[in-house]
Formats: sequence, structure tokens, C-alpha cells
Amino acid sequence: MSDRYINELLLEYEKLRTNAEQQAKTRQIEVYKKIPRIKDIDASLRKIGLEIAKAVIKGNDDMKNLIEREKKVCTDLRVEKAELLTKHNFPADYMEPKYRCPDCQDTGYIGTEKCHCLKQRIIDKHYDQSNIRNILKKENFEMFVFDYYSPHKFNGEQISPRKNIEDIFKACIEFVNNFDTTSQNLFFYGDSGLGKTFLSNCIAKDLLDKGKLVIYQTSSSLIEILREAQFDNNDTGFKEKLEDVFDCELLIIDDLGTEYITDFSQMELFNLINKRLITQKKMIISTNLSLDNIFNTYSERITSRIFGNFTMFKFYGEDIRIKIAQEKRKKSK
Ligand SMILES: Nc1ncnc2c1ncn2[C@@H]1O[C@H](COP(=O)(O)OP(=O)(O)OP(=O)(O)O)[C@@H](O)[C@H]1O
Ligand SMILES: [Mg+2]
Repeated sequence: MSDRYINELLLEYEKLRTNAEQQAKTRQIEVYKKIPRIKDIDASLRKIGLEIAKAVIKGNDDMKNLIEREKKVCTDLRVEKAELLTKHNFPADYMEPKYRCPDCQDTGYIGTEKCHCLKQRIIDKHYDQSNIRNILKKENFEMFVFDYYSPHKFNGEQISPRKNIEDIFKACIEFVNNFDTTSQNLFFYGDSGLGKTFLSNCIAKDLLDKGKLVIYQTSSSLIEILREAQFDNNDTGFKEKLEDVFDCELLIIDDLGTEYITDFSQMELFNLINKRLITQKKMIISTNLSLDNIFNTYSERITSRIFGNFTMFKFYGEDIRIKIAQEKRKKSK
């Protein structure tokens, strides 16, 4: 989880809290003006609170009795206050701060645990940063269709596309289930339209829902970001992007091999992959390139990192894009 995002959110929470408290103060002034007796009640309640605190610190013998007595007085005063408010057509809780989250009173924490509202805000923030918020509504584990993969042998492969994808699917489920303990990285390769991006999106959604920071970039947009970094770009949005590709919990590099390959792009890609491997931050890479082509396209420094540290999954079968287009055509007839 990125500390930067939590800090940003906690600042937002502080503003919410201050706002709620200021508004309560304004309502208090209004009430004191209309019902001066309530001002006296509040003063008495504060005084009693102080007396109880003093007694607790001193540890008087009579402390228990004093607290019992004062508690009774407090309850009577609170009842009187509520009755006065209602009599003057104010809701009984009119003077209380109205927090967005009553559970944590906009502090983001309940004790030392993150409140459910903060957890949800972190997830939302990560979804915003991921670059794939919308597509994940359609591409996720629940929407995965196995029928697109034939159960019959294909092009001399040892196992059918169906059995192959079932194995890959299982490995992906294990990857998300063991995400916190595994140091595995995944490499998806194979022809176009076989569900490589779809499956990486399934993983992304599952992990985003668990509060992880997952960033999706195509290799060309990734190289663009790394290139921009050379030009001292001070734009905060850009800095966040750059930081995220190095620090996020899962980086998905899609369409490796479609970027414009130069010495610069190779060096930057190597640096990124190497840094993430050293800091044990996980990655999924997918590509249309065959293993031979990967060797021919990339420097040995990159290929040895990939082959040494990624679990390789070959996708094969018939192009699902074409199947979907054929289904649509049939339906419209
Ligand atoms: N298992 C699946 N269930 C349902 N739809 C799928 C599945 N796999 C892929 N699709 C759909 O098929 C199309 C192609 O899939 P995808 O984009 O993942 O292929 P790809 O292997 O990444 O192709 P490319 O190499 O061209 O990037 C997409 O529209 C995707 O939504
Ligand atoms: Mg793809």
C-alpha cells in the first residue's frame, strides 16, 4: 500500500473533520443565542468532566461515589438539554458535529485499525490510478469464459487450449491468493486475441479489491513515462505516475515488444525490471512475441531477468476477438 496515497487521504480526512467541527461550532453559537440555559448546561457538563478527571488522577477513596453522583447529574443535564432543543424545534443532536463517517468520526481509524471507510477510499484511489477502472467491470474472474478455448488438441501442442487455459487460470488464482507471500512474476506470451490482457485484468481487479496498488501500462506508454523522467518534469501528476511504476505492488506491462525499441528504451526497461526485482515488487508482462523473438529483440540483460524470474505461460488457441465478432454478426442477422 502506498504511504503517499494514505497521507493524501488522511489530509482529506483532517479537512472533513475540521469542517464538521466548525459547522457544529456555528450551530452552537446559534443555539446559545436562542437558549442561554444550554450554554450554562454545557459549562456545567465541562466542569463535572474536569472534576471527574481530577478525582481519577488523585485516586480519592471517595472516587467511585463521586463518579456515580456526577454521572447522575450529567444524565439529568443532558436530558434537560435535549428537551430544550426539541422544544425550540432543533433536532436533539443539532449541536453535535456531523461526520461523514460516524464510526471513525472522520479520523480514518478505529483504535489502531483502519476504518472501513478509509479502506474503501484507498481502494477507490488505487482504482483511479490503475488506468483500467472501466474495463475491469467487464474483464474479471467472474466474467471469464472457458468455452472460447477448444477442448481439442491444437497445432501439435501437448494439451488442448482448454486444459492449458484451465492450468493458467489456476496459477493466476494462486498468484492472487498468495500475493503477499509469493515472489513470483508472471509472463504471458502467445498470439493475438487469446486473453492475455483479459487475464491480467482479472488479477488486477482481484488485487485492487484487496486494497493493493496495481498499475497497468502498455510497454510503449511505460517507455514514454521513463523518457519524460529525463526532462525534469515537475508536474505532480507525472511524478506520481513515475513513482507508481517503480513502487506499486503489481505492475502490469502489456504488449511488450510494441514499443519503439532503442538503446534508451532497452536500458530504461532493464532498470525498471531490475529495480522491481531487487525490491521484490511483482510484475506481469504480456507479449505477442514468441520466445525466440524475445531473445532476438531484447538484450541479454533483460531476457535473463525475464527467464530467470518470471513463470512463463504460453497462450494458444483460436483468436477470441474473431469469435466474439462472429457471435455478434450471427446475433444481428
Ligand atoms: N476468457 C475470456 N472470457 C471472455 N472474454 C474473453 C476472454 N479472453 C479474452 N476475452 C475477450 O477477447 C478479446 C481479446 O482478448 P485479449 O485482449 O485479452 O487478448 P490478448 O491475448 O491480450 O491479445 P493481444 O495479444 O492482441 O493483446 C477481448 O475482447 C477480451 O475481452
Ligand atoms: Mg493484449
